[in-house]
Amino acid sequence: MEITTDIYLGDSKEQLKLLPNNSVDLIVTSPPYADQRKNTYGGIHHDKYVDWFLPISEQLLRVLKPTGTFVLNIKEKVVEGERSIYVIELILEMRKQGWLWTEEFIWHKKNCYPGKWPNRFRDAWERLLQFNKNRKFNMYQEEVMVPMGEWANSRLKNLSETDKTRDNSKVGSGFGKNISNWLYRDKAYPTNVLHLATECNNKNHSAAFPEELPEWFIKLFTKENDMVLDPFMGSGTTLIVANRMRRNSIGIDIVPEYCEMVKKQLRPVELYLFESKAVYEAVKLKRRITVR
Ligand SMILES: C[S@@+](CC[C@H](N)C(=O)[O-])C[C@H]1O[C@@H](n2cnc3c(N)ncnc32)[C@H](O)[C@@H]1O
Repeated sequence: MEITTDIYLGDSKEQLKLLPNNSVDLIVTSPPYADQRKNTYGGIHHDKYVDWFLPISEQLLRVLKPTGTFVLNIKEKVVEGERSIYVIELILEMRKQGWLWTEEFIWHKKNCYPGKWPNRFRDAWERLLQFNKNRKFNMYQEEVMVPMGEWANSRLKNLSETDKTRDNSKVGSGFGKNISNWLYRDKAYPTNVLHLATECNNKNHSAAFPEELPEWFIKLFTKENDMVLDPFMGSGTTLIVANRMRRNSIGIDIVPEYCEMVKKQLRPVELYLFESKAVYEAVKLKRRITVR
């Protein structure tokens, strides 16, 4: 089956209107944060951020399939010594718009720069907010399992009696655990904290995702031939990874240079995937990259 990568140049608020209803399986994106990078692609004042984002999230709600997921990478900045609250306001307004705020993952930036501030420590994490249209959505948990790790050898071999039966949550959350179920297993489900280094070697964009970030969510929420959308594409990390993982993808960016750069980058990535030029030539016919 053909894998498509479509790049749209322009404002997401308008370009998203060109996409059909219920057509996207996963949205992974990092919009410009409030008041940041004004010189490169325009910052939005923190007081105006929610009003700016809501028409875009309205379109995202329309294009996402009922089984799909939206992952929003965002972090509130500090304004006059306080954390700004526009992310919290945005979550509340998006819920009114019809979104379910189903989960929050933390991106722990394990290589962030050292620094010293009088009233806080260095900021080493960002939010990855998960939104859905329905409580039941596609999630392929087995795809992101992690090695059980050394701790299991000692901890799991000394189980108490409660560890051997299902220990229901005392706060009524519905979560329960039976630790003995995990004895002798090689793999466990991961936590909702992603320990990823920020991308240092991508010099073409000042705020690029590490490839592992979209890759992890693409594995978790999509299958081959599904559709992945990044409405704030930047250097195109989401599209490049989606393409490599044989997912269709759509990227939108307001800066023409970024659109051109992504188009150029996609081709060598394809070539690198295949063991020989002949195999590449045979397969590339099934791939289509379009800049609109
Ligand atoms: C934080 S960057 C995204 C970086 C991306 N995740 C990557 O891996 O390179 C945000 C991007 O949104 C784009 N952008 C800003 N406002 C936009 C808008 N209204 N519509 C579309 N793109 C926009 C910027 O040009 C910038 O490339």
